Order: sequence, then structure tokens, then C-alpha cells
Amino acid sequence: MMTSDWTYPFSRSTSEHVDLSSQDAFNEGAPFATFERMRREDPVAWCEEQAGRGFWSITRHADIVRLNRDRNTLSSAQGIRIEDQSPEEYEARKTFQETDPPDHTHFRMLVNEAFSRKSVGRFEARIREITSELIDRAIEQGEIDATYEIARQLPMRMLAQIIGIPEADTSWLVEKGDALISNADPEYTDFVVDKVNTEEYRLLPFRSPAAVELFDYANGLLKRIRAGEDVGVLNLVMQPTREGKVMSDGEFRNFFCLLVAAGNDTTRFSISASIHALANQPTLLESLRGADADQLVTAADEMIRWASPTTHFRRTATRDFEYEGKLVRQGDKVVLWFVSGNRDEAAIEAPYEIRLGRKPNPFISFGQGGPHVCLGMYLARLEVRIVLEELARRVGRIQQLAEHSYLRSNFILGIKRLPVRLTAR
Ligand code: HEM
Repeated sequence: MMTSDWTYPFSRSTSEHVDLSSQDAFNEGAPFATFERMRREDPVAWCEEQAGRGFWSITRHADIVRLNRDRNTLSSAQGIRIEDQSPEEYEARKTFQETDPPDHTHFRMLVNEAFSRKSVGRFEARIREITSELIDRAIEQGEIDATYEIARQLPMRMLAQIIGIPEADTSWLVEKGDALISNADPEYTDFVVDKVNTEEYRLLPFRSPAAVELFDYANGLLKRIRAGEDVGVLNLVMQPTREGKVMSDGEFRNFFCLLVAAGNDTTRFSISASIHALANQPTLLESLRGADADQLVTAADEMIRWASPTTHFRRTATRDFEYEGKLVRQGDKVVLWFVSGNRDEAAIEAPYEIRLGRKPNPFISFGQGGPHVCLGMYLARLEVRIVLEELARRVGRIQQLAEHSYLRSNFILGIKRLPVRLTAR
């Protein structure tokens, strides 16, 4: 058991004063003690930044939900991560995620259907097939890194199917997706965003040169779409909206990068957190074995709450407003810490416990309630559920063999290395 001496399960961080603006803030897992102090003492806190103009941190569940809904006061249209962006950078890098209603709504409507519960449900058999293969191979291999051998494999292979990309290209896409979204971790990129001068790449998504190669790939897809080929969901985004607007080529390339980044690591880290939890709390595996279909859905949600892979999203105030006694000025950055809301005892009973049957579960890992609520939510839930199901079906015991390590990032929280042994039932 690796959890017994932890004050905060799924984290080794006990400091109450972690600098949230630092890319090192989540190196030991989420700084839950810091978030707890902030929720208690200063739930709308002004945070100075090492390299930036500072931001408000919203850490209570109720405030995050309330402010996330208030699309008129808090805009996504000046960037969605803490990083400051000049208007030129913003324009060059924006996707529909960095727009507000009504523009956002129009583009979102083009793709919603393709990612609905019903549409992604069609991939269930294929997800199960891939998952079973991965787990069986992991059992055979003995000692494995569960993040690499299981969690990292599945999400991009599924996304590739949905967006009409050959499965053979997925390893390459995973590598490039990692370079983009893990742009602060030297294990995945030479262009570590807070250590190396990335000025040259400031107009590219995530300030990453990996985007150049992804842009080339996206140009190839654009050609195929224009030649009348069926490229799955990507055909849909190039349709005119009801208002007659069409995504520009640049926006398409950015959208492609967004999918490759968003579809890659968040589900991965929900899976690695699940395997870590199952290894350290063996009774969970037993409970999963006895679960019916509905209970498995609930269990997957609880694991995604537990994992909380996107720590925050940022907004910008469109006007001066007072909130909880603080004056937020027009133009101020306001950061919604979903990871903190997911451990807020005021909203979630015993938040440091995994309760597979938690119902209702007001978790906010997907930004629920806001206009930008995760597009890939049903896909991610389906994948995590199937992984849990197949682990329970095939695996008798999961042993963690050595310490795990976390991604270096204050945006994405996840176990990037997880040495385990899976024993067949
Ligand atoms: C457990 C896995 C996942 C988590 C925790 C997660 C988390 C989130 C969150 C919190 C947002 C809201 C952003 C905001 O409020 O500004 C979001 C948006 C988004 N997610 Fe996910 N995501 C996951 C999986 C996926 C997958 C698999 C895809 C790929 C299809 C995806 C694609 C997107 C896109 C395109 C948006 C932007 C939606 C919009 O602006 O309307 N996500 N995600």
C-alpha cells in the first residue's frame, strides 16, 4: 500500500502555501492543503504571478459553478489558461474554445451531435476490444508502466476513429499531442515553456513547435475534405453555421490541435489515476466486480472527479464587479480551479474518499454548467467505464511496484509514470 501515510490521498503535497502560478505546483500531485486553506480563508484570492500580471483564484465549488455560468461577466475570449496572451497571439491561436456565445454556440452546434452520448456509444465495442487487448498484454508483460502501456494508448486511438484518422498515425499524434499540452515538462518537449525562450513560437498553440507538424497534417486533412472525402467529424466543422459563418483554415488547424491535445491526455490521466487507486485500495476492484451497468457509470464519474485532470480554466472579467467582498476589475484574469471544487466538502461529502456509488455526484471535472462544458465528456466517461469494467473482469490484483511521478504542469494533473504488475484473475 502506498497511500497509508498520505495526508491527502493521490497527492504527496502537504504545503498550505504552494504558488499556483508555478508550473511546479502539481509536481507532487494536487496541492490540496493549499486549496483547503484558500477555500477556508480566502475563496476569492488575488494571486501574484512570477511572470504575469496576477489573477484571481476561485476555489470553492459553489463559486466556480456560479461564475462558470456567468458568460456575460466572464469571457473565454482572451485566453483560457493562466498565461497572458497579446491580442496578436490570441488571434493567431484561438479556437472556438476561446470564443463567447453567440459565436461559440454556433460552432459548438456543428460538432455537438458527433460527440453526443448516442454517437460515441457506437464505439463501445471497439473501445472494449482495444482495452481488453491492452490489459491482456499488460498481464502477460508482468512489470509495466500502466500510464504508458494502458492509459496512454486508448484515448488517441478512439479519437482517431471518431475524427476519421488512420489508426496507424496515432502514435505520432500522441507524441505531438504530448509535446503540445505537456509543454512545461522536459520529458515531453525541449521547449519547456517557462524555462526556454519560446518567443519564436508565440503564435502557435501552446507556444510549441510541435504545432508546425500538426498544422501540416491538418492541411492534408483540409485537402481531403475539399476533395469531397469523408473525414468523419472534421467534415462537420468545415460546414457553414446556421448564420453562414465558416471556420477559416487557420481556425481549423487550431481546432485540430485542440482535439489532439484535449483528447489525448485528460482521459489518459483519468485512467492512470483509476489504476493507481485500484492498486492502493484493493477493495475497489472487488466493488467493481459486483457493480451493475448503472453503478459502473457512477463509478467512472467518481474516478474522473478523483482524477480531476484539468486543474483549471481561466476567464477574463468583461466589467468591474464585486464578489465575496473583492473588487474584480474589467480585464482581470479569473481562474476557476475545478480541481479544488472537486475536493470541496461543502459540496461533496468526504471528498478525499473514493465512493464508487456516489450519487448524486456534483463533480465539475468537465466544467459542467458552463457554456464550454467538455465536448469529449461522453467519450471520456465511456472509455473510463470500460477500462474499469475490463480491469475488474480480467485482473485479480494490481500491485504498485515503485513510486509514481506526476506531470510537470499547473494546468494538467496526472500520473505520468506508474510502475505496476497486473495479475490475472
Ligand atoms: C476526463 C477527460 C476530460 C476532462 C477532465 C476534460 C475537461 C474539460 C473541461 C474542464 C473543459 C471546459 C473548458 C472551459 O470551461 O473553458 C473541456 C472542454 C473541451 N474538451 Fe474536454 N476533457 C476531457 C476529455 C476530452 C476529450 C476526450 C476530448 C476530445 C474530443 C475533449 C475535447 C474538449 C473540447 C473540444 C473542449 C472545448 C469545448 C468548448 O469550448 O465548447 N475533452 N474539457
